[in-house]
Amino acid sequence: MRLSRVEFAVMNSSVRRLILKWIEFRLFSSFLKKHSVSITGGVILDAGCGSGYSTKLIGARYNPRELVAFDIMPEQIELANRRYGRARFFVGDVTEINSPSDKYDAVFVFGVLHHIPEWERALREIHRVLKPGGHMLIEEVDKKGVDFVEKYLHFSHPKESRFYWTQFVEELQTAGFDIIKDSKIIFNIFHAYLCMKPVTNGR
Ligand SMILES: C[S@@+](CC[C@H](N)C(=O)[O-])C[C@H]1O[C@@H](n2cnc3c(N)ncnc32)[C@H](O)[C@@H]1O
Repeated sequence: MRLSRVEFAVMNSSVRRLILKWIEFRLFSSFLKKHSVSITGGVILDAGCGSGYSTKLIGARYNPRELVAFDIMPEQIELANRRYGRARFFVGDVTEINSPSDKYDAVFVFGVLHHIPEWERALREIHRVLKPGGHMLIEEVDKKGVDFVEKYLHFSHPKESRFYWTQFVEELQTAGFDIIKDSKIIFNIFHAYLCMKPVTNGR
């Protein structure tokens, strides 16, 4: 779902970039380090990349051999292409990812699923495009957080994509992920997860 004008401005502000860099990206880097997961030089996807700031951070830190990023809003992809020429950006939908299965070593998802009515389907798609043994780093906000921003800011989110953490965890498992790490970011409203697509027998 497209962002409202207010949320588009907030998401493309320097405040958002500071939070992304110093809180969320830093936390994900620490997850990977702590669990001895190396994605350096891998094939990496930034799903719902917005205007590409997270993509730029990923490229600088992990020097991927292929870096792909997409967002549903063409305006975001236009900004992303201007910001960072090294990645392949395209307009795309995380509920129907335009990619072969088993392609990525890592998929980053910063604050996207609470915009998507079919967010459970998005989790299954991310699982599909990850290699067995690949990792998803996902940051989300729960129903309480979304209700709060709807009430006090002019943000707009679908009713169907407001979840509690127990439900979110259940859907991660239903999609086929092993949850390696779950960390609160601000109180219990924002969480970050490191998940893995398990290697199944016969692969
Ligand atoms: C809250 S913003 C986060 C943007 C960026 N990841 C960040 O953390 O700054 C959510 C982003 O998800 C994108 N989005 C919403 N629905 C989407 C979908 N179905 N597929 C891909 N991107 C989507 C929006 O266009 C928006 O850029």
